[in-house]
Amino acid sequence: MADSFSLDLTQRPRRLRRTASLRSMVEETVLRPADFIAPLFVVEGRNEPDEIASMPGVFRLNLQDLVRECRALHQVGVPAVALFPRLDPNLKDEIGTGALDEDSLVLRAVRAVKKAIPELTVITDVALDPYTTHGHDGVLNASGDDVENDRTVGILTQMAILQARAGVDLVAPSDMMDGRVGAIRRALDAAGHSNTGIMAYSAKFNSAYYGPFRDAVGSAQAAGTRLLNKATYQMNPANRREALTEALLDEAEGADILMVKPAGMYLDIIRDLREATRKPVAAYQISGEYAQIHAAARLGWLDLARCRHESLLAIKRAGADMILTYFAREMAQVLKA
Ligand code: PBG
Repeated sequence: MADSFSLDLTQRPRRLRRTASLRSMVEETVLRPADFIAPLFVVEGRNEPDEIASMPGVFRLNLQDLVRECRALHQVGVPAVALFPRLDPNLKDEIGTGALDEDSLVLRAVRAVKKAIPELTVITDVALDPYTTHGHDGVLNASGDDVENDRTVGILTQMAILQARAGVDLVAPSDMMDGRVGAIRRALDAAGHSNTGIMAYSAKFNSAYYGPFRDAVGSAQAAGTRLLNKATYQMNPANRREALTEALLDEAEGADILMVKPAGMYLDIIRDLREATRKPVAAYQISGEYAQIHAAARLGWLDLARCRHESLLAIKRAGADMILTYFAREMAQVLKA
């Protein structure tokens, strides 16, 4: 009976999955090297390799190695890098003074990369967390229990001007203060940097998956706890409508690119933004997303190459025009091969 069973079907979607050739013809989403932005960590001096324990294959780079890595990225077709400094703890203070040092590590890094590979797009983070002893993205209020919005924005505007002057193509405020995109846009324009763009971390969620990044830049250690809580400025992971509010505010304030972060667990938000705006949408596959794929692969529980590809494909399919990912170089290499 089972042997002779047959359905009278007009539609058989499997027809188009029968051969590799047919499957490739109907493929809807295709990753390419130009989809990726590589986040890179910069440190002062030191020559021995400085791998981040929770991010296998990701190293804190001195300026020389940074330039070498940028060349390699450029060669495999990755168009952009996002730079994050890891500061010496004794350069940090309560108000993040180091962020306004005109010769700071990240500004020297920008100049070095722009000089070596002018065509590479360079993006810098606008937030105080690498510079503060408490690890928060801004300055604290008088009682020390919250980040003060407007005073922080004042500092961020100055930070953005220094970055623009150093030659970045895009500044990326990742702090989630209210009104910072508009304030930065006005400050950049007034300082003669109307060509410097803003990639706004628009919907940045208060995620537990930032842990490895905080190890990488040392903001968790600085705070003396792994429970650095940013809930009064980063978004509640439960909220979807609010992400649109944030993104549309950033667009109205002059953002050129809107970002969702994290990416993989927030595909619905990426899709919402894609449909709500005509601006390019970026998504940040964050440190914890990278770490969990590596951890499972190390245990032999998941296939690294396939999970890497599928995780990025899903983010693009959801509607991201560009993806910040620690897999940027290896993905671009694989895609080019
Ligand atoms: C903070 C910042 C964070 C990341 C980039 N910029 C994390 C945080 O809010 O502490 C996270 C990136 C990652 O996890 O890969 N300005």
